[in-house]
Amino acid sequence: MTGQVKKAIIPAAGLGTRFLPMTKSSPKEMLPIVDKPVIQFVIEEAVESGIEDILIVTGRGKRALEDHFDYAPGLEAHLRRQGKVEQAEQVRAIGARANILFVRQKEQLGLGDAVRHGRRFVGDEPFALLLGDTIIDPGHPQGLHGLQELQQVYQRHGASVVAVRRVDAQMVARYGIVDGRPVEGEHLYSLERLVEKPEPEEAPTDLAIAGRYIFTPQIFDCIDRCAAGKDGEIQLTDAMNLLAAQQPLQALLWQARRYDIGNKADYVRCFLDFALRHPDTREAVRACLRDMDADQA
Ligand code: G1P
Repeated sequence: MTGQVKKAIIPAAGLGTRFLPMTKSSPKEMLPIVDKPVIQFVIEEAVESGIEDILIVTGRGKRALEDHFDYAPGLEAHLRRQGKVEQAEQVRAIGARANILFVRQKEQLGLGDAVRHGRRFVGDEPFALLLGDTIIDPGHPQGLHGLQELQQVYQRHGASVVAVRRVDAQMVARYGIVDGRPVEGEHLYSLERLVEKPEPEEAPTDLAIAGRYIFTPQIFDCIDRCAAGKDGEIQLTDAMNLLAAQQPLQALLWQARRYDIGNKADYVRCFLDFALRHPDTREAVRACLRDMDADQA
């Protein structure tokens, strides 16, 4: 058995062009899901999966991310003066759950390049990669939460592993698509080939990379060997192809619901799902949906 992975990289440097004009001056990772920004869900998932040290890769216009995980003495003092001690403690605790570091990607050279910014932070250890614009539903029936499932597979096999989900044919061009042999029932694949954002007729399968990965440190040498690929960017999927040629790379087909926050419809669905669970909004949102349903009938 291999040990638990303790370090994670969270790329959050993308320009969020699919979400303009909202993302002109605010990072998409700070979009609210009721009362919490997307990035906080990602950090919570990492911490609940045993991660202790986190490197967030940011870029220009992303300072709000750093502020969110910093102390806010003025706000905390204000809340305490008003007797809102619990809220003051909640605000203070946001950045205390893990050791969070930041590095800036100065040029938008792609996801592979963003990951490369974590090389010194990771050193010679395996690490987790959680895309900062993806929320994995913590409420899914299996009980294990997002990265925890990948940790379990990594501990069993000691190989790099990526989470995938089945997508509709018209969605394959938005994702990295993987192909391989099933190794354990229907849920685990040994990967042979990956294609970044193929046209539907070129997609080898409907298995799309879902924003969570665990890698051995050899992925960094593979990234270094990659020239600019699809869309002129250093693609992580190209590096994963090189990795798969030299050591096992697996894909876990997971059942967990994944919200791709770069996609407007997914964002709205995510907001609604969480609003329907949140004690402050549940009843009002249910009533609102009932009204809308009645209006349409
Ligand atoms: C990136 C990856 C892609 C993956 C996707 C998941 O694409 O390149 O392989 O499927 O994240 O969201 P992006 O969304 O950055 O265009």
